[in-house]
Amino acid sequence: MVSHMTSNSKPTKQNDNTWQDRQVLVAVTGGIACYKTCTLVSRLAQAGATVRVAMSDSAMKFVTPLTFQSLSNQPVHTSLWESFDRPDAQHIGIARWCDIAIIAPATANVIAKAATGICDDLLSTVLCAIPQQTPVIFAPAMNADMWANPVTQRNIQTVKDLLHWQQIGPEEGWQACRTIGAGRMSEPEAIIQFASQC
Ligand SMILES: Cc1cc2nc3c(=O)[nH]c(=O)nc-3n(C[C@H](O)[C@H](O)[C@H](O)COP(=O)(O)O)c2cc1C
Repeated sequence: MVSHMTSNSKPTKQNDNTWQDRQVLVAVTGGIACYKTCTLVSRLAQAGATVRVAMSDSAMKFVTPLTFQSLSNQPVHTSLWESFDRPDAQHIGIARWCDIAIIAPATANVIAKAATGICDDLLSTVLCAIPQQTPVIFAPAMNADMWANPVTQRNIQTVKDLLHWQQIGPEEGWQACRTIGAGRMSEPEAIIQFASQC
């Protein structure tokens, strides 16, 4: 039998309530691992969370906002200036709306911007505006040499120490740049498992 979901009904396939009615912001930045974030958003939505996605300009080179809009059934935030069209989309409103934020993939760039307080697009501005008590999970993904760069490592330590962001990954293995090393984004299931404990 085919079961049709409506906006008032909830998926039934998950057997725990961890994500039921949680308000999750997924911040997507520009790495090839964006394709895995589609699965992440889909799984969270199936588990009952309300998921809103914010994308950097670079992320939109890899995956379209329409993909995330379809998976989340929510508007996707891409511009600081969209608030003039949609009153709910203003950066402070998004930052206050979420009760957990997951940055996946987290580029070297977005980590550096957060570590230094740079707010030059919607995504970095929202991250800066997230209240201190809201858990922020980040899943770095980058080339092994970018990962090994001491400035990247310093920035990671800064976001953990000063902002209390919680890190998952990266994992070792095959990278799209034909390197084997540390820098693969953790799998969506592992990110969800980690975030469910935060
Ligand atoms: C094909 C391609 C793949 C990339 N993959 C990554 C990546 O996995 N991690 C990363 O930190 N940067 C990666 N970059 C570089 C970022 O897209 C670039 O630093 C960008 O400025 C990041 O912007 P954002 O952090 O606002 O998304 C990649 C660039 C290209 C062209």
